Amino acid sequence: MRWAIIVHGGAHTITVDKIEPHKAGCLRAVEAGAALLEKEGSALEAVEAAIRVLEDDPTFNAGFGSMLNSEGEVEMDAAIMEGERLRAGAVASIRGVRHPISVARHVMDTHHVLLSAEGARRFAQERGAELCDPAELVHEEQRREWESSKEVRGSDTVGCVALDRFGNFAAGTSTGGIMHKMPGRIGDSPLIGLGLYADNSAGGVSLTGDGESIMKLALAHRITNSICNGEDADRAAEEAIASMARRVGGEAGCIVLDRQGRVGVAHNAENLAHAYRTSEMRCATASVQKQR
Ligand code: GLY
Repeated sequence: MRWAIIVHGGAHTITVDKIEPHKAGCLRAVEAGAALLEKEGSALEAVEAAIRVLEDDPTFNAGFGSMLNSEGEVEMDAAIMEGERLRAGAVASIRGVRHPISVARHVMDTHHVLLSAEGARRFAQERGAELCDPAELVHEEQRREWESSKEVRGSDTVGCVALDRFGNFAAGTSTGGIMHKMPGRIGDSPLIGLGLYADNSAGGVSLTGDGESIMKLALAHRITNSICNGEDADRAAEEAIASMARRVGGEAGCIVLDRQGRVGVAHNAENLAHAYRTSEMRCATASVQKQR
């Protein structure tokens, strides 16, 4: 059966000097996931592997290199979901872990869906996740940006959606949120049905952009509903972003795979960095898409 994987590295303005690092990072991530899918790995494993690559890369606002809150600290959100049994796990406002997506994956194996802040970090420690000094997640470029302006800004996230050979979907998101956010602020990324969704009867979705806007329209669930109602991945993605812009404003982007493994990408930001590969392709393709 056909497999497919798509990652994004955020919807925002990507300056010329950052285009190649964004493409290269997205390619590395998608190939890490594709390598697992080729060997009959699960969509869930592929999504986690791809997002871990993005979390390690300071080009992206997730894990190492995350944006800083108003107190100059990194607080991260992440979530993962699989479409067969609709199992999901998420962490919000977590500090001092290298890979929030892997902690979210552990949460999925418990009775709970979402753990936050210190409770999430204690849980990460119990599960043997890689802990670090929160200061180690701060990249000097983010520190400089934080110092240059006190404006609350930015909202790019990383994400991945995969379909495996067995017809199972998974979706994931990971983010440092927005620069100068209030401590404790949580965006759309760890919220199931808002920042991501996966359901084998429709497909999978991962969003990036202004969390406060994405949340108000429950965009991820809206997109999977549209696919259930007969839309293809691309049209469902376009309609959701357009309705958000019309109803509440804001900038966002999304990546989608539908049941046929068709790729959908839409955004209303200046750029969206993404890469994808399907089982028919010998290698992945990446682009920093401009607004259509
Ligand atoms: N979409 C990421 C955030 O708003 O935190």
